[in-house]
Amino acid sequence: MPERIKIGYVGLGRYLPENILTNARLEQMVDTSDEWIIQRTGIRTRCIMGPDESLESMAVAAARQAVDNAGIDVRDISVIRIGVNTHMRFPSLSALVQEALGIPDASAADVSAGCASFIFSVEDVFNRLNFEWMAYGRKSYGLAIGIEGMSIVTDYHDRSTCVLFGDGAGAAVIGPVESGEIMAIYTRTQGKYAELLLLDKFMHVPLSDPQEMSFQRLDSTNYPYLSMEGPKVFVVAVRTMVSDVRTVIGKYNRANDERLTEADIDYVYPHQANLRIVTAVGEALKLPPEQVYSDGVKNYGNTSAASIPIGYIDNLGKHQSNTEVDVAFGAGFASGAILRKVAG
Ligand code: ACO
Repeated sequence: MPERIKIGYVGLGRYLPENILTNARLEQMVDTSDEWIIQRTGIRTRCIMGPDESLESMAVAAARQAVDNAGIDVRDISVIRIGVNTHMRFPSLSALVQEALGIPDASAADVSAGCASFIFSVEDVFNRLNFEWMAYGRKSYGLAIGIEGMSIVTDYHDRSTCVLFGDGAGAAVIGPVESGEIMAIYTRTQGKYAELLLLDKFMHVPLSDPQEMSFQRLDSTNYPYLSMEGPKVFVVAVRTMVSDVRTVIGKYNRANDERLTEADIDYVYPHQANLRIVTAVGEALKLPPEQVYSDGVKNYGNTSAASIPIGYIDNLGKHQSNTEVDVAFGAGFASGAILRKVAG
């Protein structure tokens, strides 16, 4: 069996829509205020897709930037995973991106794990690249994208949710590295909380009489927007993300001689759901605010699966760190964390 190789990020990219939705504009749309939104969520602006933008165009733009940044030949990409919850059609978004980028024969599929979908996608790509190397001695690259068009599923009459979400995409090319490797990944799903955050099955119109093949009217049966029990989600989100950071460190320690503790973590990228959630996660991990990413939630709102890879680009060249953790939580409740070394 060959020696293990280091696998990590070799290129990063992102796309944010040009149209900005401000708190002032939301004040005109629903009964809310800039003060309430900032106090309860920390969000000031979000980016919302316009008529010339789509999930596909955002994913392709972010992926192209990541591939250019990696400086690789796209034909060396053998696997594509896109974390997305709002591409409610087929073929998969991954298939469209594969074709647009001209990547032949890659294994391309979407991953739906709520706001943790980027973490699950990185895990899939990482495991596959490792397996290809260990089993066949083949080195190649993978593409993991986190993307969301939350405006597609947001009810802009519902003040309890419409102030929270934004659209965007972030991408990472993953492959063999000299330094800056992914050390451990942990994912899990707690299906018992599924009812707290969901999008009804509005694309499925059940047959009211299968013998007659008669349909119900779509608009009379379903609510085609996400719904959420915000305060309950909040509590489980903080508890889960803190626990997942501890678990990914423990997972790494069980497989290595090195012993890491929470004190060895220099920087955390928590999923940007709400500034209060981000702050609570940082405080539980005893990290000062400058070691916890929070610009994303302030500037782009909750971009679901895209929030962590969007953050990587915000921070390029901004701070020094050796060991970082990404941690996310979302519908399912699916959650997970990535422990990474930063390239030296
Ligand atoms: N403007 C003004 N008032 C509002 C608004 C608004 N936009 N939204 C709700 N309110 C009101 C409510 O109606 C309620 O009024 P009442 O007391 O008269 O009934 C009051 O504000 C308090 O409502 P709560 O829901 O208790 O407010 P809370 O402080 O919990 O904040 C929030 C709500 C921001 C949704 C918070 O619970 C939260 O962020 N939860 C986590 C949600 C989340 O992160 N979800 C996504 C995670 S997974 C993913 O990313 C897809």
